[in-house]
Amino acid sequence: MAEVFTLLLMAGMLMCGLLLHTVSQHGASVDELSKKPNFIIILADDIGWGDLDANQPEQKVNNTPYLNLMAEQGLRLTDFHSPASTCSPSRAAILTGRYGLRNGVTHNFAVGSVAGLPLSEVTLPQLLQKAGYYTAMIGKWHLGHNGPYNPTYRVTSKHYKVYIPARKNEMATWTLKQRGQPYLLYIALAHMHVPLAPPLPPDASATARRPGDCQVYAASLREMDGLVGAVKRASDDADKGNTLIWFTGDNGPWEQKCQYAGSVGPFMGKWQTSRGGGSAKQTTWEGGHRVPTVAYWPGRIPANTTSSALLSGMDIFPTLLSLAGVTPPSERRYDGIDATDILLRGEHVGHEFLFHPNSGAAGKFGDLQTIRTGTHKAFYITGKLGAAEACGGATGRQQLHDPPLIFNLDRDRAEETPLEVGTPEYQVVAERIARRREELLWDIATDKSVSTADYSTEQSAVPCCDPTQPVCRCYTLG
Ligand SMILES: *[C@@H]1O[C@H](CO)[C@@H](O)[C@H](O)[C@H]1NC(C)=O
Repeated sequence: MAEVFTLLLMAGMLMCGLLLHTVSQHGASVDELSKKPNFIIILADDIGWGDLDANQPEQKVNNTPYLNLMAEQGLRLTDFHSPASTCSPSRAAILTGRYGLRNGVTHNFAVGSVAGLPLSEVTLPQLLQKAGYYTAMIGKWHLGHNGPYNPTYRVTSKHYKVYIPARKNEMATWTLKQRGQPYLLYIALAHMHVPLAPPLPPDASATARRPGDCQVYAASLREMDGLVGAVKRASDDADKGNTLIWFTGDNGPWEQKCQYAGSVGPFMGKWQTSRGGGSAKQTTWEGGHRVPTVAYWPGRIPANTTSSALLSGMDIFPTLLSLAGVTPPSERRYDGIDATDILLRGEHVGHEFLFHPNSGAAGKFGDLQTIRTGTHKAFYITGKLGAAEACGGATGRQQLHDPPLIFNLDRDRAEETPLEVGTPEYQVVAERIARRREELLWDIATDKSVSTADYSTEQSAVPCCDPTQPVCRCYTLG
């Protein structure tokens, strides 16, 4: 059954970074393959939990009508977390189902990085390909671009193209042809990372009608939402009922960009902001990793539902493999959980413990010093180091917490007032997390499948460098 699946995507998306389009074909085309579901992962960049209208209906500003519709026809996950609070580690954990301490990716790769996601790691697309899936990627990779680190090899093995748009508002068309195969399409949007390039109004000569400084973010958000709507429409037309779309974010808003940063909603990290530091991207405050998430699969995921199960982007890996009937290689250890029952059957039990790795704002990259269990969240370290700046440039200072700071998110979503150390509630939680943390660190220390990433850089590794060309930006990406 040959199908043609066409996506029309505005080139505004292309303006924001290097876009890769990779497509692979697997020879096999057997009956059982046609029964396997298709998967579309849409990963937004630097989006805030509060940017999704459906997350804050009382403050609805109507910037995300298509995502709201997808939530109304699917499942909104309100306690879903990016696996890290910056780009590369988050993406690596999504694609491997493992913490950075295992997959080796604990901070961002640079434009001059000679390597990327360690070659010893196995990615979700690679495993789905082996099971007969047709895998494709559009968008931002940020896990290495040289030689074998290139997404051509990590996502797929054939037909690789880089699209370089000539100018704004140009339409780009992708055609994803299926040959009786299920597919995985990984769309890693450049939205909502700065620089933001929202479309101009239809009458482009009317410069007075360009979005004002304060509307740039909202206009870009609406554009991103429109892309999500276009993908959903194309998917509904092509194979409705057999395609799961999973929308989420790579980390929280880049707060220091002020009006160009997204909204953390009620997750304001007040303990930190009252001490001058940022509490979103790079940090392990909720604003750094709680991301807007919607899962949509008509006929399979109950419509108009919400789950507050504690979940992570690392869960995409085991969940999609489970839905595809694929068993991950047993010689390595994973940190994601199979969320199939939460998606399809209204089950509400997610992670018993979830660790939020240091992502540059405090401590050593990748270390697991912030822990969530139930409604409680504990910090062994807060503050500066790589410095998550608040809007205006202020940073907090690094503080070690022994005993840890523990907040109860049920009563204190803004993480403002830690529990009193002497209380029974504190004591019970502190003991549980300390024990679990020991266990996990031991598990990682004895894990023979741990990878080490090579973070060295070389001028010759820079693919191109021209500040006037958005696709060749040669300053550090966040
Ligand atoms: C979805 O649920 C909300 C809240 O329960 C309700 O107000 C709304 O009408 C529902 N929408 C649809 C399309 O069923």
